[in-house]
Amino acid sequence: MYTTSLLAALLTAPLALAAPSLYQHISLRAPSDKVKCPIVIDGRVPTNLSRTPTVFDTSNALFNPDYVKGNNLTWSQILKFPATESSRFDGADHAAVEVTISDLSIFQKQVGFRRAGLQFASDSPQDPSDEGVKTLHFSVKQDPARPLNLTHEYLNVWHETADYSNNQIQFNVGTLIDQPSSKINNFKILDRAGKQIWGIPIDYKKWQNFAIKLDYTKNQTTIYYSTGSAKLARVVGPSSVNLAGGGQFQIGVLKKPTGTSDVVNAGYQSPNLNEGQIYGGLFVEDSANGCVSL
Ligand SMILES: *[C@@H]1O[C@H](CO)[C@@H](O)[C@H](O)[C@H]1NC(C)=O
Ligand SMILES: *[C@@H]1O[C@H](CO)[C@@H](O)[C@H](O)[C@H]1NC(C)=O
Ligand SMILES: *[C@@H]1O[C@H](CO)[C@@H](O)[C@H](O)[C@H]1NC(C)=O
Ligand SMILES: *[C@@H]1O[C@H](CO)[C@@H](O)[C@H](O)[C@H]1NC(C)=O
Repeated sequence: MYTTSLLAALLTAPLALAAPSLYQHISLRAPSDKVKCPIVIDGRVPTNLSRTPTVFDTSNALFNPDYVKGNNLTWSQILKFPATESSRFDGADHAAVEVTISDLSIFQKQVGFRRAGLQFASDSPQDPSDEGVKTLHFSVKQDPARPLNLTHEYLNVWHETADYSNNQIQFNVGTLIDQPSSKINNFKILDRAGKQIWGIPIDYKKWQNFAIKLDYTKNQTTIYYSTGSAKLARVVGPSSVNLAGGGQFQIGVLKKPTGTSDVVNAGYQSPNLNEGQIYGGLFVEDSANGCVSL
């Protein structure tokens, strides 16, 4: 429990504790850890916790236990911890986590969607991750036993405004309902208007590592990317986007229906779903002074 409570203390610490100099002293990092900047929100799953998934069913240091998931499901039913090599920023101490969806993945009365999305425990509608210059890191890997169905549109990672009216930045895959001619096999990073900022085909073998720098002071985003254990490189940006509105990150799987314009409440979802998206290296770092972990 030592690891858990120390993490909890860090995650709830006042901002002053997040000064870069302190990070060098309170380090939970393995030598293999490639994180170079102060972490503002750490959603990397300690290997220990991956062995006790029921930890995620109640209040814990990493994720909100209550949102966003099927009404009758618990996180220990939704999350899987596949035995796969660590992603670049997980190092030896952290494990991959897979978010799955099934026919039971209906949140509240949203019968159009099948969804399960992790929210960081320390992420609130207005907090340090919505100010200054911050970078969201996430890596994805595909599970051959739980493939996504690219006939559908998926929204899997995003930052949603505090008033829930839009997402400042969104990471989609599959058939975009509003842009059917977009490449269905590509991961697509979109702005709040749905305009594509960058895209890359799904790699069915390797980790794909994404970093999305959000410069809230300039309304700009810069995207970094690599595969496997390679160092990230800038692929696009800085691009102008509207990052106003605060809000929260969400990371998981949100599968939209086909055959409707009312995606929340209607449309078609094929039955007996067993789909998942594997994630690793989830964290938000402080990119003040141009710091981005590559
Ligand atoms: C975490 O892992 C370490 C080493 O693998 C072990 O010694 C420790 O007991 C574990 N802690 C928990 C809470 O499982
Ligand atoms: C959840 O359980 C309730 C009570 O058993 C049931 O009425 C409801 O249909 C279930 N919801 C889903 C999405 O399966
Ligand atoms: C970002 O863009 C929005 C929309 O144009 C604007 O309201 C907001 O003030 C801008 N923020 C900054 C820091 O320029
Ligand atoms: C993919 O989705 C479409 C539309 O819902 C459905 O017709 C098809 O059977 C699905 N394919 C698989 C392999 O599940």
